[in-house]
Amino acid sequence: MDAAGSASVTTESSTADLLIAFGTTTGTARDVAHRIAREAYSFTIENSYTHYFRPRVLSMKEISVNYLISNWVDKNAMVIFVVSTTGQGEFPDDTKELWRELCGKSVPAVPIRFAAIGLGDSSYEMYNYPAKKLHNRLKQLSAISPFAVCLCDDQHDCGYAGALNPYLERCWRAWVPENCTINPDSVPVARYNLLSLTASTDECNNQPRPTCDKLERRMLIRNERVTNSEHFQDTRLIAFDTTNSNLIFQAGDVLQVFAENFPDNIQNFFELYPQLRDQPPFYLVSDPNMRWVSIPVELYELCGPQPWTWETIVTKILDFQSIPGVYAFQILRSFATDPLIKEKFDEYCRPEGLDDLYNYTNRPRRTILEVLLDFRNTAVLVPPNYLFELIPFMRPRAFSIASPPCETQHIEILVAVVEYTTNLKTRRRGTCSHWLAEYCQIGQKVGVFCEKGSLRPPPNDAHVIMIGPGTGVAPFRSMIKQNLDKWDKHLFFGCRNKDMDFYFGHEFNEMVDKRQLSFYPAFSRDSAGRKLEYVQDLIVKEPNLFRNMMASPLPIYIYVCGRAGEMPKDVRIAVKTVFEKAGICDTEAFLKSMIQRGYYQTETY
Ligand SMILES: Cc1cc2nc3c(=O)[nH]c(=O)nc-3n(C[C@H](O)[C@H](O)[C@H](O)COP(=O)(O)OP(=O)(O)OC[C@H]3O[C@@H](n4cnc5c(N)ncnc54)[C@H](O)[C@@H]3O)c2cc1C
Ligand SMILES: Cc1cc2nc3c(=O)[nH]c(=O)nc-3n(C[C@H](O)[C@H](O)[C@H](O)COP(=O)(O)O)c2cc1C
Repeated sequence: MDAAGSASVTTESSTADLLIAFGTTTGTARDVAHRIAREAYSFTIENSYTHYFRPRVLSMKEISVNYLISNWVDKNAMVIFVVSTTGQGEFPDDTKELWRELCGKSVPAVPIRFAAIGLGDSSYEMYNYPAKKLHNRLKQLSAISPFAVCLCDDQHDCGYAGALNPYLERCWRAWVPENCTINPDSVPVARYNLLSLTASTDECNNQPRPTCDKLERRMLIRNERVTNSEHFQDTRLIAFDTTNSNLIFQAGDVLQVFAENFPDNIQNFFELYPQLRDQPPFYLVSDPNMRWVSIPVELYELCGPQPWTWETIVTKILDFQSIPGVYAFQILRSFATDPLIKEKFDEYCRPEGLDDLYNYTNRPRRTILEVLLDFRNTAVLVPPNYLFELIPFMRPRAFSIASPPCETQHIEILVAVVEYTTNLKTRRRGTCSHWLAEYCQIGQKVGVFCEKGSLRPPPNDAHVIMIGPGTGVAPFRSMIKQNLDKWDKHLFFGCRNKDMDFYFGHEFNEMVDKRQLSFYPAFSRDSAGRKLEYVQDLIVKEPNLFRNMMASPLPIYIYVCGRAGEMPKDVRIAVKTVFEKAGICDTEAFLKSMIQRGYYQTETY
C-alpha cells in the first residue's frame, strides 16, 4: 500500500507481522495499541510503497497460548502487549484468561519476540504490576524481549506518551531494518473515510451496525450545587434516572460519563470549517486496508445509526479539548504549504523539538482546537477525514457512584467542577465536569455506563475504616447507605469549611445519631489560627481506635479514596503511626502485607 493507504503487493520475506495485543478497562490501552499499529504501518521499504509491518490489533481476550505459539513464533513476527492496571494492581478483566493460562503448570514454552508496555499510575502502590508480571512470566517461558518493560505513568506531564514515545523509538530501531523508514514527506495514513449518501449503496449498506450493550443514554434528573455559592469550588450532586435500566453496579463502582463539547468550542470549529456545517449526512467507514481499525461501538449508542452529520460528530464525538501530541503536528506538517510554518512543525516533530512542543502544548494545556485556530491557514487545508486523525474521540470520565445500589430509580455522582488558570493566564474548563455543571440540562440524555471500581467490599463482619476527603467520600456514601446495619464503620472525611464544602454532612451526622456510623470530619480552614487539620491528623489522634480493633477477632479493612497527590501518602504515614502505637514493630511490612491481601485499598485520581 502507498502512504495514502491504497493497496500494493507485499512479499513474505521482506515484511514482518506485528501483533499488538491489548488489555484494557477503560479503553486507553486499546487507543495506544491502535496508535502503535498506525505508526508501525507507516514504515515503508525503501524505493517501494511496500509497508514493512503488517499490523494486527487484538484484545487479549481473543488470544490464547496456543494462538501465540501457532501464529507468532517466527523470526519475522513480533508481539507488543499493551496492558493497563486496574483495581489494586490487578490485570484488566479481558486479560485474566490469558494470564491464567500463562501461569498454568503445564504451559509450554512461548518463544515469541515481544515487548511489554504497561499503563499505570505511580500514585498507586502496585504501580504497573500486570505489565511487570507479564513481562517476567513471558521471559520465563523463553519469550525474547530486547528491552525492559515500558512503564507508562498517568502522573507524567505528558501522560502515557512520556514513556511510550522513547520506548517505541527503541523498538523500531531494534526491529525495523535500515532500508525501511517513515518518509517524513509522506502524508500520514488516514484510518477513516467519509462516504457521502450518494456513494455506492453497497458500500454504505455493508457498514456494520454494532450495538454497545453496556452504554445507556440516561436522563439527567438532578444537578445541584452542594458547595456554598461563596465557595471557590463548584461541586455538583448529579443524578441520572435509572428506571427500567440495565445498569448494574455494586457500592464502590464507578459511573463512566460521556460529555459533549462546549457550545463556544462547537461554534469556533464551524467558524473554521463553515462548509462542514451544511454538508449532507455521511457514513464514517474504516479503511479496509487497515485491518486493525474499527469504529468504536460507543459511537453508535451516542450518535444513533449512521449516516451521521458533522453537527453530531462535532457535538458528541470529537474531543476538542484534548492536548495534541506529535502525531497531530505530523499531520498538520504534511498539509502545510507555508515554508515557515512547515519548518515550525518539522521542529515539533523531531525528537530534539520535544521540549518546544511540550512548552507549546502540554505546559499551557493548549487544546487541539486552539492549535487549529493558531494555525488556521494550515488547518483549513486538512481534508475532513483527517480531522478524525487530528482530533481524538471523546473519552468517558469516571465518577465514583455515590448512591447505593438499593436505590434503583437513580444513580448519583458527586462532581467537583474542574476549572483553573494556566501559566499563560488562560482559563481552562474540565471537559466533563464543566459540561455536566454548565451545559447539561435537566431532562437531557447522557451516555453513561457502570464499571467495576477498584474498591472491593469487606466481608459482613469487619472493622471498616473509610478515609475519603473531598469527592473521595462519594463511594463511601454508597457503601455506608447500602450496609447501614453491617460492619463496625468509621468514616474520616476532610474539607475546607463546615459551611462551605461539607458534602453529605447532615446525612452522616444523622447516621451518627442513629449509631450507624462513627464519623471524624476535619475542617482544615476552620482551625482558627491552629495548625491546619486534615484527615491524616485525625487518624493519628485515634491510636486507641486502632489498638482496640487489632485486639478484636474481626478483620480490619482500610479504604482510601480521593485526589492523588499528597493525601494518600500522608494517610499511609498516619496509619503506620497508629499501627506503631498499637504495638506493630515493622509497620511498613505490616501495611504492605495488608495491601497485598486487600485489607488496605486505595482509589485515587
Ligand atoms: C476511579 C475514579 C473515580 C473518580 N471519581 C470522581 C468523583 O467521584 N468525583 C469527581 O469529581 N471526580 C472523580 N474522578 C475524576 C474524574 O474522572 C475526572 O478526571 C474529573 O472530573 C476531571 O474531568 P474533566 O473532564 O472535567 O476534566 P479534563 O478535561 O479531563 O481535565 C482534567 C485535567 O486537567 C488538568 N488539571 C486539572 N486541574 C489542574 C490545575 N489546577 N492545574 C493544571 N492542570 C490541571 C489535569 O491534567 C487533569 O487531568 C474520578 C476518577 C477516577 C479514575
Ligand atoms: C479504578 C482504577 C484503578 C487503578 N489501579 C491502578 C494500580 O493499582 N496501579 C497502577 O499502576 N495504575 C492503576 N490505575 C491507572 C490505570 O492503569 C491507568 O489510568 C491506565 O491508563 C488505564 O488504562 P485503560 O483505560 O486501558 O484501562 C488505576 C486506574 C483506575 C481508574
